[in-house]
Amino acid sequence: MRTGICDQLGMEYPVLAFSHCRDVVAAVSRAGGFGVLGATILTPEQLEIELCWIDEAVGGRPYGVDVLVPEKLTGMEKGARFDGAALAEMIPEEHRRFLDSLLQEYGIEPTAGDGDGDEAVTASREGMAAGLTGEGAVRLIEVALTHPIRLVANALGAPPAEMIKAAHAADVPVAALAGKRAHAERHVAADVDIIVAQGYEAGGHTGDIATMVLVPEIVDAVAPRPVLAAGGIARGRQMAAAMALGAQGVWTGSVWLTTQEAETHPVVKEKFLRATSSDTLRSRSITGKPARQLKSAWTEAWDGPGSPGPLPMPLQPLLVDYALHRINRAAAAGAPGAVQLVNYFVGQVVGSLDAVRPARQVLHEMIEEYVDVVAAQADGLRR
Ligand SMILES: Cc1cc2nc3c(=O)[nH]c(=O)nc-3n(C[C@H](O)[C@H](O)[C@H](O)COP(=O)(O)O)c2cc1C
Repeated sequence: MRTGICDQLGMEYPVLAFSHCRDVVAAVSRAGGFGVLGATILTPEQLEIELCWIDEAVGGRPYGVDVLVPEKLTGMEKGARFDGAALAEMIPEEHRRFLDSLLQEYGIEPTAGDGDGDEAVTASREGMAAGLTGEGAVRLIEVALTHPIRLVANALGAPPAEMIKAAHAADVPVAALAGKRAHAERHVAADVDIIVAQGYEAGGHTGDIATMVLVPEIVDAVAPRPVLAAGGIARGRQMAAAMALGAQGVWTGSVWLTTQEAETHPVVKEKFLRATSSDTLRSRSITGKPARQLKSAWTEAWDGPGSPGPLPMPLQPLLVDYALHRINRAAAAGAPGAVQLVNYFVGQVVGSLDAVRPARQVLHEMIEEYVDVVAAQADGLRR
């Protein structure tokens, strides 16, 4: 099972776990995998706190940090400062009215203002400003590189050149997500070391090519650079398939959302446990870019006939951020309308997530099944 990526990144099993939750990151790294902390919504100060905690918790085991720098942001010149107030002025009145009437329809209390003064909203707006721009992400990476991280990763495009330069100067490899071959080729041209071939099944931002088709295409296109397979991998049989497609390891996300350590919203966690693999869709309704998430009254409304259609990133998140905070809080308090609306990013493998287990157990069961299936196949070949 040891592949080159295990030596390159210093872990026992070629399983990487993306999570916004530091407990999941630490638990996976401690159990022999490689946790990657999603830092996009954090400010540099918050990231510093999270990484100090992880350093203590992992006991020298390797982990990484992921940012998300879109190549294009509507309303902003490349490299421009993130000006939330100026961007908010670009949100059409029709979209504000649609959102207000949706909240009203589902019984979410109207509130004055747009979330100014609400601590959680301020924090996520600061995080958005810090994380979504190249400049902000480079600052996050500068903070991350003062910790013993073993990988820097980026989604939604080739990482900014300064980010790659800073990581390489510290001898830290850089990974980037690719949803099609052209993305992977751009990453190679930008000197990215590891390509994450992420298929359509995946939770979060995805393209429209399935993992089964994408992985061998990218493996061949970027050889000899290592490729990690992502999208639809939650168990050992899927891991074995990914390795057979030429990947050196797997990059997973959804499977950790229902672990004991995950701070997934409790109502959402319950919905995930009940969901089938038909219960997700790609929708622009949260971030403005197509992202796979659980179907709910929220996605139905935004993608339905009465909707003005989601705005592009970053206008849609600026528009809906405060509303989503209010929905999450009301759902946690059991408000029926909010429970219908609440959702989150998750991939098609949600259909196989039916129990809450510790992250260590999820990883070890994945490895055991992988070993069994590979052994059974080798046995079949010998006979
Ligand atoms: C809740 C959630 C949030 C995500 N956010 C990010 C992100 O900020 N940056 C990133 O590189 N990938 C993000 N992803 C994608 C994951 O890194 C990973 O590629 C994907 O989850 C793999 O597919 P799977 O969900 O089928 O395991 C996210 C995925 C999920 C489920």
